[in-house]
Amino acid sequence: MKHIAIFASGSGSNAENIINFFKCDSSAKVSLVLSNKADAYVLNRANKLSVKTWVFNRKEFTSSDGVLKVLAKHNIDLIVLAGFLWKVPSILLNKYIGKVINIHPALLPKYGGKGMYGMFVHNAVLMNKEKESGITIHYVNQNYDEGDIIFQVKCQVGDDDNVNDLANKIHYLEMEHFPPVIKRVLLRDE
Ligand code: GRF
Repeated sequence: MKHIAIFASGSGSNAENIINFFKCDSSAKVSLVLSNKADAYVLNRANKLSVKTWVFNRKEFTSSDGVLKVLAKHNIDLIVLAGFLWKVPSILLNKYIGKVINIHPALLPKYGGKGMYGMFVHNAVLMNKEKESGITIHYVNQNYDEGDIIFQVKCQVGDDDNVNDLANKIHYLEMEHFPPVIKRVLLRDE
């Protein structure tokens, strides 16, 4: 069985969905949820689902092996970023080469980069009168949202869609596609 660690900074609806998916799939399990925010709601969700959590500070993440030690202790095979807002440092990327993936709520390479998250992304898509948006699941490298793309799927943006309408469409795509894509990445690596 493979072990997944999820990094998240916020609400954690994706984390919860991934945890539940792998509760019904013996190929892997979410063994750990990590956050840079002690009050992130994702930690409540993980606790309710009996998944171990760990909160870390910037030093433990970027300039010491604090986070690496925790990942090693849990035999982590794949790191999944799901609404995680810090840039991943090379100390971690070098240890988990090709084993860190992220989900982005737009069709990269458009609407990516620093500061492009959540409603900022959807607002920019609407401002530019795009006819479609979607989700991108990609490998993580040292730059925000620039790693190789693993999977994309589109949705239509209606002329009357407001930011909540678009956020709901994206959320729906994330719930449907992120867990099975994670599974495919894990199987590919065997
Ligand atoms: C998702 O839209 C994801 O694409 C982005 O951050 C959001 C996280 O939402 N990277 P949640 O915390 O999983 O509810």
